[in-house]
Amino acid sequence: ADALKIGIAGLGTVGASLARILTTRSNELAITCGRAIEITAVTARDRSRDRGVDLSRAEWFVSPEEMAEKADIDVFVELMGGAEGAADRSVRAALSRGLHVVTANKALLARCGVELAAIAEEKGVLLNFEAAVAGGIPVIKALRESLTGNTISRIYGIMNGTCNYILTRMEKEGLSFEACLKEAQRLGYAEADPTFDIEGNDTAHKLAILTTLAFGTQIAADQIYLEGISNISIEDIHAAADLGYRIKLLGVAQRTESGIEQRVHPTMVPHDSVIAQVDGVTNAVAIESDILGELLMVGPGAGGNATASAVLGDIADIAKSRPGAQRVPVLGKPAATLEVYQQAK
Ligand code: NDP
Ligand code: HSE
Repeated sequence: ADALKIGIAGLGTVGASLARILTTRSNELAITCGRAIEITAVTARDRSRDRGVDLSRAEWFVSPEEMAEKADIDVFVELMGGAEGAADRSVRAALSRGLHVVTANKALLARCGVELAAIAEEKGVLLNFEAAVAGGIPVIKALRESLTGNTISRIYGIMNGTCNYILTRMEKEGLSFEACLKEAQRLGYAEADPTFDIEGNDTAHKLAILTTLAFGTQIAADQIYLEGISNISIEDIHAAADLGYRIKLLGVAQRTESGIEQRVHPTMVPHDSVIAQVDGVTNAVAIESDILGELLMVGPGAGGNATASAVLGDIADIAKSRPGAQRVPVLGKPAATLEVYQQAK
């Protein structure tokens, strides 16, 4: 089979990790996927920066939009970030041109994911986004594939690695909030604007995506009750510990009498619960459904390799899929607004 040609827009923490893995594991991947995966196009802002990987065989594009419109690629991999601007324009251009798209950009999907999925559906291409929620944990696959036929009643968990890293180190090592955040940034866990992490917006973006997939509602990130961790002090953490609790930033979405409730806030969880034991950059997502029961997935939630692992899985799915025989990509089940859901109850 012909090689799958991919273009990577964004060569930062995630993009450079992905490029390194694709380069160093090319033989194994070709065997697993039944065809080679080649990076034929790349773009980032600074062309002169060393990315720790030889990309000299890929064509360099001056902008992601130009790459989406002109590059000789089958898959456009968006790893720049940002809910608007270059990410939005280039992903739309790629889908409209009939390219598959893989993205880790939860901010973009929380703003207009259903719209992008509709373009993908119309063009018969895939829009894959496993890395957008909980890093390397395959929660999108679980919802889209493994739990088919289940009625989901609740999804909750720790969905931001930066916040969990900060809370863990504050509690266990007595470090200041600022020092922990700086370290999370240095390790590549935090968003370009870390207020998205610490004020809970990033968790809200992820929760909104999960809610749409689990409950078939329109994405409604702006309807989520939101409270971050920037006001949590070491004294709060110690007071909670004295009462037998640990503080975790949780995202929760659940069916209620009046519709789907969504909230993000610091939560006191009992010390002996599984979720309380989830430390550092690790994420945990629990899904309660009627056929399976409770599923708890725990794993690396941020960082270059963990995220690139999920992106790579999405690319491999495309490499293995037969053109013309793909499942139509949908971000959620046929969209219903929260109001429609409420009326139907
Ligand atoms: P970085 O900030 O490390 O990298 C962003 C990359 O995009 C850089 O290479 C940058 O170029 C490039 N870029 C930004 N804007 C433009 C533009 N307008 N035109 C061309 N290139 C551009 O981000 P991350 O790798 O950490 O994150 C990438 C995406 O993955 C984001 O959507 C993020 O939310 C998501 N994500 C990140 C995770 C993580 O752990 N880091 C985990 C899960 C998802 P240059 O290098 O030249 O500045
Ligand atoms: N900034 C995000 C986090 C990256 O810390 O969880 C993973 O989505």
